[in-house]
Amino acid sequence: MRIAVVGGGYVGLVTAACLAKTGNTVNLITRSPAKPASINSGKSPIYEPGLDDLIRENVGRTLIAGTDYRKVSDSDLIFICVGTPGQKDGSTDLSMVRASSRSIGEALRKSGNSPIVVVKSTVPPGTTERVVCPLVLEHAGRLDIRFAMNPEFLREGVAVHDFFHPDRIVIGCSDAATFEMVASGYYGIDVPFFKTSINAAEMIKYASNAALATKISYANEIGNICKKLGIDVYEVMKGVGMDPRISPYFLNAGAGFGGSCLPKDVSSLMHLAGQLGENPVLIRAVMDINHLQPLRMISLLEQQIGKISGKRIAVLGLAFKNNTDDVRESQSIPVIRELIRKGAHVAAYDPLAIPGMRDLFPDVEYCRDAKEALIGADGCLVMTEWQEFSRLSEEFDLMKNRVIIEGRRILTCAGVEGICW
Ligand code: UGA
Repeated sequence: MRIAVVGGGYVGLVTAACLAKTGNTVNLITRSPAKPASINSGKSPIYEPGLDDLIRENVGRTLIAGTDYRKVSDSDLIFICVGTPGQKDGSTDLSMVRASSRSIGEALRKSGNSPIVVVKSTVPPGTTERVVCPLVLEHAGRLDIRFAMNPEFLREGVAVHDFFHPDRIVIGCSDAATFEMVASGYYGIDVPFFKTSINAAEMIKYASNAALATKISYANEIGNICKKLGIDVYEVMKGVGMDPRISPYFLNAGAGFGGSCLPKDVSSLMHLAGQLGENPVLIRAVMDINHLQPLRMISLLEQQIGKISGKRIAVLGLAFKNNTDDVRESQSIPVIRELIRKGAHVAAYDPLAIPGMRDLFPDVEYCRDAKEALIGADGCLVMTEWQEFSRLSEEFDLMKNRVIIEGRRILTCAGVEGICW
């Protein structure tokens, strides 16, 4: 199929590169000219395992990147994959969805082609029908364009794998022909397809992320209780997760969830509930637990080393999880902010995410490796589940005080205190 993907963030890039691999011809359209330049030279502008290889394999053949919206005009499917960031009050900023809808409409004005516009961005229920459809149709000046909503369930760090091995592909649309066309874009991927309404597809995305976030906060709450009882929450969750009604996934207790999706989508759902006059008690509690969880790292540190002021604290791990350079909503952020507020000297290390964190905290000492951060440190907080941290052992002997608190269950050496184990 001829496919246009609008938006060059994590979702847009991975979707475009993977669809190009499965035999479609894909035009990736981004706002900034820097991204197409990088992609067309065979290099991914973001770090995502496997993405560089996919781009190199297909660029110039089935994958072409650019900034010109006119490329959408001869497509069968046009995927909208632009960002929908959260705003301070929890609502969703739809300005990029609106802008891309207008541009797609204008590009289709003179085209004789009748494509399907597929919203992949995470948008509040009702957005496709009430915002995207009218804008595209108005700017196109015609009515023969169809719409669908196809939420994305990729996880950063394993997004390419997730694309080719999804659990399900959800397609929200109003007729069987539209469903078949959108499903054809995923030709070759053997997975259950779920046909539903556009509004339900939008809601499935929010409800899925809220369910994942709920499992994590649940594991953390149980973990906090377990710690007081001297019970290992990982042992407990192993036993709990053996029940297929619960499943073993997303029960890893720790410093809580970060990233560009879970916190934003749960906040957005809470905001939406409030607008509808609902009091979302459960999802508010999920967020409250998640806000308090990383600060427990500081309390545990203080219990061991006393006052933090003037002390050198090593922070290992800045990304919101392993295998990504992304620091958005990372649980390291409130921890570093609190350490600085309390007068600590923060020595931080992450294999990939230092540039992102430097933008937020320019005055932190960023180290070349874990060892450099640990030399002379009065305490160490482990914030990200990077595999390389599991090999750390004698490096901790270089600390002034061998006080190690881990917020992710990753270390294998002795003498470590877990956040909730
Ligand atoms: C999440 C969802 O998992 C994807 O299905 C979804 O497509 C994506 O959001 C999105 O909406 O775009 P992602 O944000 O990439 O994916 O990362 P996750 O793997 O879900 O991890 C999120 C956070 O939860 C991380 O900080 C991680 O450390 C934490 N986590 C995860 C836990 O604390 N415990 C767990 O058991 C699992």
